[in-house]
Amino acid sequence: MVSALLPFEGPADLSRIEAPVTLKAYLICAFAACGGLFFGYDTGWINGVLGMPYFITLYTGYSYDYDRKQPINIDPVNFGLPSSTKSLMTSILSCGTFFGALIAGDIADFIGRRLTIIIGCLIFCVGCVLQIASTNQTVLFVFGRLIAGLGVGFISTVIILYMSEIAPRKVRGALVSAYQFCITVGILLANCVVYATQDRNDTGSYRIPIGVQFLWALILGTGLFILPESPRYHVMKGQLQSAAKSLAYVRGQPIESEYIKDELAEIVANHEYEMQVVPQTSYIGSWVACFHGSLRKGNSNIRRIILGCGLQMWQQLTGINFIFYFGTTFFQQLGTISNPFFISLITTLVNVLSTPISFVAVEYLGRRFLLIYGAMGMIIMQYIVAIVGVTAGRIDANDPAAVRGMIACICINIFFFATTWGPTGWVVIGECFPLPIRSRGVGISTACNWFWNCIIAVVAPYMVGNSKGSANLGPKIFFIWGSLCIFSMLFAYFLVPEMKGLTLEQIDNMMEEVSPRKSKKWMPKTTYVAELARRDAEKSRQQWRDVHAATNTTGGLESGMMGGGYQEANEMGAIDPYGHGTTHGVHGGSGGYGNSMGRDPYESPNTVRY
Ligand code: BGC
Repeated sequence: MVSALLPFEGPADLSRIEAPVTLKAYLICAFAACGGLFFGYDTGWINGVLGMPYFITLYTGYSYDYDRKQPINIDPVNFGLPSSTKSLMTSILSCGTFFGALIAGDIADFIGRRLTIIIGCLIFCVGCVLQIASTNQTVLFVFGRLIAGLGVGFISTVIILYMSEIAPRKVRGALVSAYQFCITVGILLANCVVYATQDRNDTGSYRIPIGVQFLWALILGTGLFILPESPRYHVMKGQLQSAAKSLAYVRGQPIESEYIKDELAEIVANHEYEMQVVPQTSYIGSWVACFHGSLRKGNSNIRRIILGCGLQMWQQLTGINFIFYFGTTFFQQLGTISNPFFISLITTLVNVLSTPISFVAVEYLGRRFLLIYGAMGMIIMQYIVAIVGVTAGRIDANDPAAVRGMIACICINIFFFATTWGPTGWVVIGECFPLPIRSRGVGISTACNWFWNCIIAVVAPYMVGNSKGSANLGPKIFFIWGSLCIFSMLFAYFLVPEMKGLTLEQIDNMMEEVSPRKSKKWMPKTTYVAELARRDAEKSRQQWRDVHAATNTTGGLESGMMGGGYQEANEMGAIDPYGHGTTHGVHGGSGGYGNSMGRDPYESPNTVRY
């Protein structure tokens, strides 16, 4: 039993289970958020590179006149990579990330979150070297992308896990949103670098955009050498001294601080509680356990997996990547637009500049609010784009004002995504899993994101394309995205609970007690430490009843027990999870519950001692 090792008592007062937020906590998480750069940059550069004359020449043998900016002896429409090559080179990354994300969870539980991210950076670098080394060998390039994808999968999963586990509850949403911000910055940087090198007549055209990524790996990899391991990982491994040390570091408190003792005790108690609930079996059994439980119970593992995977799936099905992956081609098809690349750059900029709003919104308005109303905003905008697209915005109508209106609505749609579904999808998957299946849960959910990302990358060109075998939907595709957003909204309304302002352990408790629709009003009433103590007392009372029944003593003593609290139970030999023998490891008793803890992320910490 892990808790038997715990050298101190735990909190019963809810306001005491986390130290005030320090600058250091912000900085550590902000640094970890840099992992988002890999994600954004790696998805961002490939489209540009696939359209570069030098790269096309390399893989097809077509000639290109760099002075006149025209292909030689071939119609410009046909100057490009075959669709199959494009599709393979684009989607193989998602394939690698899919598997990387799935494996990463296990590795993060085995060797720790920090080390897994560092290994992810190394794998990613190997993938980059292979891609840079390739000249016109499709196999080498594709293999390089697959390996780099594995690394990105590791990083994108474990960063979320790491950040959620070390961030203080009051700003956890905001800090994880910073990860999304880095994704958007990554996409923007990729666009800029590709723009700068696209006309080069040498291998630098594609090698520079690939090589720039070493920088992210270097920054994140070396930084994580200095940062501490997640205290929750140490708890999982039963390394309580190390857990206390890293908790003290990330909270900026001395190790002997009451805050550290209390928070650690709560993490330990929660872990123990979860271990009692999740069956401990073989390796396969532990995977099966992730899908265990009743669909009706909000806190069952299967419900949490549905929550995490569903959120990532619906995030992708909002259609956002259609805009980022195929925006340039789509804008070209609308006619009337002279510089589609510029419009794409604007959409990317709107994405970057809107995301910081979510830092505050996710903590003030909450996760549910953002997801429900964000989806609503996207439904409205996407329907407007579709309706205008089939009426005044039609190519043959040749109405630049209508097309400008469509672009404005696409930008507002991006604004809604960037402030709501973009960040909140990641925030919620970092919060909704209990410690015993957290790394796997985050991994499976992230894999789900990449899976749908890949499906959209493969399918969307056929939906809007006008070549043979394509559906040539044009702007009508926004009817599909808008309709899918209705499902995103319903999913959020029925299945996503409100988690703002709660510790990961309280979230666990809340999901057990109320349905998502009632979750916003839920207030923590107890702590896991208190709950374990209550269970011990109950067990002890039962033991006494059994003893009395067996020895046939009178009921007077028993009724005394029934009326007593933890203290009495313990004095009579209850099982003390913290090995103290006399008191039951609970500070303050039940008088400390239900104070003004509330769900306000910015409430001042209650420092009342008892
Ligand atoms: C999504 C990515 C998307 C990005 C856009 C992320 O949350 O998962 O697929 O490209 O947001 O900002």
